Amino acid sequence: MANVFTRVGDWVTERAPGLMPAYRKHMTEYYAPKNFNLWYYFGSLALVVLVNQIVTGIFLTMNYKTSAAEAFNSVEYIMRDVEWGWLIRYMHSTGASLFFVVVFLHMFRGLMYGSYHKPRELVWLLGMLIFLALMAEAFMGYVLPWGNMSFWGAKVIISLFGTIPVIGGSLVEWIMGDYLPADATLNRFFALHVIALPIVLLLLVVLHLAALHEVGSNNPDGVDVKHGPKGNRWDPKAPTDGIPFHPYYTVKDTFGVGFFLIIAAFIIFFAPTFGGWFLEHDNFLPANNLVTPTHIKPSWYFTPFYAILRMIPSFFGTAFWGVLGMFGAIALLFLLPWIDAGKVRSIRYRGTGFRVALLTFAGSFIGLALVGAGVVGEKLVEWVPSDATFWENTFGRVMTALYFGYFVFLWFYTRLGWEKTKPVPERVVFDHD
Ligand code: HEM
Repeated sequence: MANVFTRVGDWVTERAPGLMPAYRKHMTEYYAPKNFNLWYYFGSLALVVLVNQIVTGIFLTMNYKTSAAEAFNSVEYIMRDVEWGWLIRYMHSTGASLFFVVVFLHMFRGLMYGSYHKPRELVWLLGMLIFLALMAEAFMGYVLPWGNMSFWGAKVIISLFGTIPVIGGSLVEWIMGDYLPADATLNRFFALHVIALPIVLLLLVVLHLAALHEVGSNNPDGVDVKHGPKGNRWDPKAPTDGIPFHPYYTVKDTFGVGFFLIIAAFIIFFAPTFGGWFLEHDNFLPANNLVTPTHIKPSWYFTPFYAILRMIPSFFGTAFWGVLGMFGAIALLFLLPWIDAGKVRSIRYRGTGFRVALLTFAGSFIGLALVGAGVVGEKLVEWVPSDATFWENTFGRVMTALYFGYFVFLWFYTRLGWEKTKPVPERVVFDHD
């Protein structure tokens, strides 16, 4: 058997001599730092979810009907009549939410260990482009079942473009292809969701990884893996603190994938709607332009940004400021490598101010998510019925200020010499406080 593999390998190598060196460069001779921890699972998990979305998406497309008259019923048909259709659909809908869970944790790891600092700015920027494409992909996918929240969600989000001065009105019509979300909207969203954006996403992911492999991975200590003098048995130039990606991290990542799949299976089989967070109750009703859902809110992963939009008041009679704030919140993440001028990468050795600020930032993000999802409002109505809106707005605005405050603080903290860092080790370590 081994002989057959060798012969096939030789046959391919003779015809495509560049393949094996490329495999070695990215797998067996890609030296990743030896101290990766739990936070380093999320990159490979994001890849797994991406593949899941594409594969289950292909199967969904086989029975989905792209028209405002048929879309809702075709999804019901998939759920009830197509063999295993319910499983494919729940794998896709749960996958969408888990994609964001994984990507948020993946991004948070970057914030903790300073993975966006030089020389990995490009890796970060490509990651942020992925994040944008992913948000567009999820938004358009949510419209396709043509449930009532699909319809109203699309209406609210597309109408936001209407706040842009001068061109706003025409832009909204241009995006919808009609005066309301309608057949034309559904058709173009289908084309973008099924073909255009997946291609963009795949391309960006390839570039993301190519950019990472040019400079090498960061790690929980945020120090570079040193070259020599030890090397290893096969490669005298191997970095002392690096280990070959394959087999060491392929094995580690496979373990992570197994663990992740158990959690995913549990949700898919026992709680596919996740209490209305992964699939909203209003989306089990067909789209109806005459009946507005009681609370129009986007899927949970958009709620932090949606809350910022809602919390910024309309000055001079336009909601444009809220839209600006919402997009600004994402734009600031793009600019992070240039906002944070800290000399030390990892949170392990950064000043206390940074630690507190990052924790506050994460807290504000969760707080905003709750405001955007209406949870804060709902609770407050029970406790302080008359002042509920006032307190919800106060809480939401404090969270918004803390979110933006993180970037302002980092800018000054790292430029005015306020940060007192700990000594950074020469090489990666396993013992640290
Ligand atoms: C489809 C989505 C994504 C996929 C499949 C993906 C994949 C990966 C993989 C496989 C790695 C190497 C393993 C690891 O370090 O965990 C990685 C590293 C990295 N990713 Fe992503 N990623 C995605 C989205 C993002 C986003 C949204 C960001 C942030 C804006 C981001 C920022 C980074 C950074 C900074 C690194 C280097 C981390 C380090 O070396 O410490 N990625 N990504």
